[in-house]
Amino acid sequence: MEKKWWQKEVIYQIYPKSFYDSNNDGIGDIKGITQKLDYLESLGITMIWICPIYQSPMADNGYDISDYYQLNPEFGDMKDLDELIERAKEKGIKIVLDLVINHTSDEHPWFQDLLKNPEDSKYRDYYILKSGQDGMPPTNWRSVFGGSVWEPLKNTNEYYFHSFGVKQPDLNWENKQVRNELYKMVNYWLKKGIAGFRVDAITFIKKDQNFDNLPADGADGLVKCTKKARNQAGIEEFLHELKEETFTKYDCVTIGEAPGVPYEQYGDFIGDNGYFSMIFDFRYADLDVASGSEWFKRVEWNVLDLKKLIFKSQTEIQKVGWGANFLENHDQNRSLSKYIKEEENRNFYSATMLGALFFYLRGTPFIYQGQEIGMTNFKRKSIEEFDDISSIDQYYRSMNEGFSAEEALHFINLRSRDNSRTPFHWNDQEYGGFSKVKPWLGMNDNYRSINVEQQEQDPNSILHFYKKIIQLRQKSECLIYGEIEPILEDHPTIVAYKRKYYAEEIVCYFNFSCDEQKVVLDDKFDVLLDNYKEDKQTVSEQEYFLKPYQALILLKQGESHHE
Ligand code: GLC
Ligand code: CA
Repeated sequence: MEKKWWQKEVIYQIYPKSFYDSNNDGIGDIKGITQKLDYLESLGITMIWICPIYQSPMADNGYDISDYYQLNPEFGDMKDLDELIERAKEKGIKIVLDLVINHTSDEHPWFQDLLKNPEDSKYRDYYILKSGQDGMPPTNWRSVFGGSVWEPLKNTNEYYFHSFGVKQPDLNWENKQVRNELYKMVNYWLKKGIAGFRVDAITFIKKDQNFDNLPADGADGLVKCTKKARNQAGIEEFLHELKEETFTKYDCVTIGEAPGVPYEQYGDFIGDNGYFSMIFDFRYADLDVASGSEWFKRVEWNVLDLKKLIFKSQTEIQKVGWGANFLENHDQNRSLSKYIKEEENRNFYSATMLGALFFYLRGTPFIYQGQEIGMTNFKRKSIEEFDDISSIDQYYRSMNEGFSAEEALHFINLRSRDNSRTPFHWNDQEYGGFSKVKPWLGMNDNYRSINVEQQEQDPNSILHFYKKIIQLRQKSECLIYGEIEPILEDHPTIVAYKRKYYAEEIVCYFNFSCDEQKVVLDDKFDVLLDNYKEDKQTVSEQEYFLKPYQALILLKQGESHHE
């Protein structure tokens, strides 16, 4: 594909509520991000994606917006954001915001007006309203956060539709007026000078217009709404229009959260004329559960399974466009806890092996806050300690499906979105230096041993290795633009691939196990990166023994290289 500026970016995802609290009210904020720009610059990242900071009652921590043009005062005001954009720019760091346009908050003035005047509000058609049948909701579809997608509209026989929480009514994309309102808003933000958007839950905007029932798939008598309310036929018109009315007018980057898109359709989404620059592929991130919203259906997996998913994703995306590679995000648990099964193996080596493995895949790499210091899951002792709306739903749903309270707690501890939302560990002081007061969400208590300050001082830390990982990509066109070719595909525990760019060839080996593994090197190589002591500059042995969780990045010494 033709080169694009956003292919060489390294994106750092910030969950603003948990990054840094500048005014000590227990909640992270925009000024907090600005104050930590030096840290981000020293890490080497070039772009920040900030999760929603707009006005919101925070039922889903900002993914429920009550005013698209105002910021949540807990995070700061427009002056703070302008300053952040400005300061970041001085450091060569771009800002990407979250775009949540499948739904609003029920506290948005449009919905509030509808509540006041259900019969003749001019916003009636802004949302999806349907009459119930014989005292039952219009369909038996389950929302992503549990319960029916239909909620009774007070003082009427009608229901409104919500793919996610009750306080997140879906917008009616069939209504041109709604779409125009949204495009206006998108253009407002792009004009302001942000680099682009991460586009939330975008495959949910089109619903099957027949609204008919499906056979139930759970003890609640409901069925996953995704079958009828995600990536439905006709969505292409909306996505095409969205792009034409907004994104194409700017040289912006767009990263679609587009679950449920089959690979056959990736060309439409991320091809030359695709709707987005890139989209996330969640298949490998959700390999330990039946689906992102059924945490009680655990799935056994091994490294070969993971590898197959990663390479399938990589090769399918390579055919048509460009990917967005991530290990973690605010909806996932921590990667060290997920991908490294035994606790005793969660260490510097496995953390850096995972980091490098994902970083050198073909695509734009994302780092989620805390990943670069190896933050882990945090086991909570009771349901009261959770904040995440989906964890609470999954807990009760598990029990409804016949699991004990103890089992239910176990499932959500493994998968809870709160695992990645705990406040960031800046140092070993109280509350990890995140705030001087008790944070909005309980800290992970290992902040005394896992934190930025301590890792800054230790040249052998995960943090220092992440800096090297980033630096290496930044200076290698091959690691940025090169084609990917999986190798050793059937090996049960080594993940390996080649990146090729013109005559240059880089071979990446990752030992995804706690045992030594033999590989056979077919040439002479320069060592570009090694998470074990870098005592060797070159390797050329026929046989090379990879140490436990070793990551080894090698440049083939071809003639072209010496030109
Ligand atoms: C996306 C967000 C998630 C949010 C949901 C509803 O999946 O990443 O955090 O809860 O959309 O907006
Ligand atoms: Ca604050």
